[in-house]
Amino acid sequence: MTAKLIKNGTIVTAADTYTAEVLIKDGIIAKIGFDLDAEADEVIDASGKYVFPGGIDPHTHLEMPFGGTVTADDFATGTTAAAFGGTTSIVDFCLTTKGKPLSESIAAWHNKAKGKAVIDYGFHLMIGEINDEVLAELPSIVKDEGITSLKVFMAYKNVFQADDGTLFRTMLAAKELGAMVMVHAENGDVIEFLIQKALKEGHTDPIYHALTRPSVIEGEATGRAAKLAALAGARLYVVHVTCAEAVQQIAEARGQGVDVWGETCPQYLVLDQSYLAQPGFEGAKYVWSPPLREKSHQEVLWNALKSGQLQTIGSDHCSFNFNGQKDLGLGDFSKIPNGGPVIEDRFSLLYSEGVRKGRITLNQFVDIISTRNAKLFGLFPRKGTIAVGSDADIVIFDPEAQRLLSAETHHMNVDYNPFEGLLVTGVPVSVMSRGEFVIREQQFVGELGAGRYLKRAPYITASETAPDPKPKVKL
Ligand code: URP
Ligand code: ZN
Ligand code: ZN
Ligand code: ZN
Repeated sequence: MTAKLIKNGTIVTAADTYTAEVLIKDGIIAKIGFDLDAEADEVIDASGKYVFPGGIDPHTHLEMPFGGTVTADDFATGTTAAAFGGTTSIVDFCLTTKGKPLSESIAAWHNKAKGKAVIDYGFHLMIGEINDEVLAELPSIVKDEGITSLKVFMAYKNVFQADDGTLFRTMLAAKELGAMVMVHAENGDVIEFLIQKALKEGHTDPIYHALTRPSVIEGEATGRAAKLAALAGARLYVVHVTCAEAVQQIAEARGQGVDVWGETCPQYLVLDQSYLAQPGFEGAKYVWSPPLREKSHQEVLWNALKSGQLQTIGSDHCSFNFNGQKDLGLGDFSKIPNGGPVIEDRFSLLYSEGVRKGRITLNQFVDIISTRNAKLFGLFPRKGTIAVGSDADIVIFDPEAQRLLSAETHHMNVDYNPFEGLLVTGVPVSVMSRGEFVIREQQFVGELGAGRYLKRAPYITASETAPDPKPKVKL
């Protein structure tokens, strides 16, 4: 492999902003310094650009069966769109089926990605039940497969939902293995009641998706999960936090020393509940669970990112075409497939709406979009930073260029864009995965199947890292 040199760019990490050259050899960052020209075969001029570590999207659903259909992006289109947007690693959710070996589901997910992914990828594993078979499989899934995050759904009754006993036992097992437990925190039982009540009363429009999933129910489930995590002594990660009630529960638990972390998504920062009330069936485009909230929640979410009470941004990319998929819910809002396409725009939206509007700093941006995800999901320092020895997953970013978000120009395999018409400032110009260009001057130059599976490390608890109070050698 040839050596590449990135010159004249401003390197931005979660900690620092500085100007230096980056020398890449065999896909790894070999040197950071000055006057490295002689060692390079190819020089890339990054004048006026930021040199960011590649984005890490900790929350995607590619080629996933859900709501009577399958998500529109597979590992080829989904990871290609991710790369265009500045993301160089994803962690996708592997679904499991009760009564079936977990290993079968993992093998099926490997088959979805193999030969298709253009960037590196790992898997989280859904836990729907705890029994002797599941408990017997988990140690090798964590240690050998490198799947170090387990996902429990507290909602989607009669589909994915697990009860509190299952959640708690998953936490106990995960803690032993150094795995993190992730939750979709909504009270699925109450939601199911509210949905049936609304339908009985003849309320079938998309807005009822939001009205039957009030924010208090997300807050309640978030608090319940945090309390169970405290009792189990487990590490908890709450996915797609949307509202003040949930932020408050996370902040309170963290204040009590509970090992709990929170993710939000661009859609909750930028869009609001009014989108669901658009005339006709248009609102179906904006059906996510948890739902978009009243606008007042947006400021709470931004402030939580700024203050560190929420730490990450996932896209929750779960794309369904408006024509042919979302319309499964015409005449019954509860049958609209839940989710939307965000994998491509996550990075630029956070930069444009966050950094450019003064809501977060440039270094916080890098932390939220990349570094914190690498650390929480067992990928750091291989991924998530610009440092000697790290994979050369790099985004060369033009902070002044603008892009109009639109289905006309996006690369996601879906017929609408929820942010249609929004002008963002800041564009990933070139994107490298392990030193190879995937995107060069906004053109795709990657290769299907070049993405590698990421075995992730378990986490190390605070007590494990505390210095041993007893001297090892008797003095
Ligand atoms: O509506 C959503 N969020 N769809 C994806 C599945 C999930 O709950 O994350
Ligand atoms: Zn969810
Ligand atoms: Zn009513
Ligand atoms: Zn999701």
